[in-house]
Amino acid sequence: MSILQILKYPNPNLRQQAKTVEKFDQNLKLTIDDMLETMKDAKGIGLAATQVDIHSRIIVIDLSEDYSDPQIFINPEMSIVDKTLSAYTEGCLSIPGVQENIERPSVVIITASDANGDIFKAEYTGLMATCIQHEIDHLNGKLFVDYLSPLKRQLIRKKMKKSKAN
Ligand code: NI
Repeated sequence: MSILQILKYPNPNLRQQAKTVEKFDQNLKLTIDDMLETMKDAKGIGLAATQVDIHSRIIVIDLSEDYSDPQIFINPEMSIVDKTLSAYTEGCLSIPGVQENIERPSVVIITASDANGDIFKAEYTGLMATCIQHEIDHLNGKLFVDYLSPLKRQLIRKKMKKSKAN
């Protein structure tokens, strides 16, 4: 397993649309392992392939304290069950040092494939619902700062450029 480099905002590659995964092969499993390792190393709770410059629809999430509960979502499709919004303070491994309160629908149903290509469907609430929406946004080239005002986003952009994290 290897630790991959995480793209930092405002790297333009973070805006790419990720493509549907067609082959559930050994290569995919290696990518998933590397993503899990990278997320753990960066102490994150979720990582989308887009963030490591791989433009395929792959997401890994682990909300456990000790990284004992890895969850894999390939080609996730989302439907909103409850439009009531929940607010969470969100952060992103691609925008280090920035945390903002973001409101998102509180209950979602996700249909996705696991690493073997087997399709599953599950309902998510709370932090998990927020996290998966944040990660699906990444696959569509969207970042949580896009929900903020243009002025606030501009300030974050300047701060990121100054820190030379890119
Ligand atoms: Ni993120």
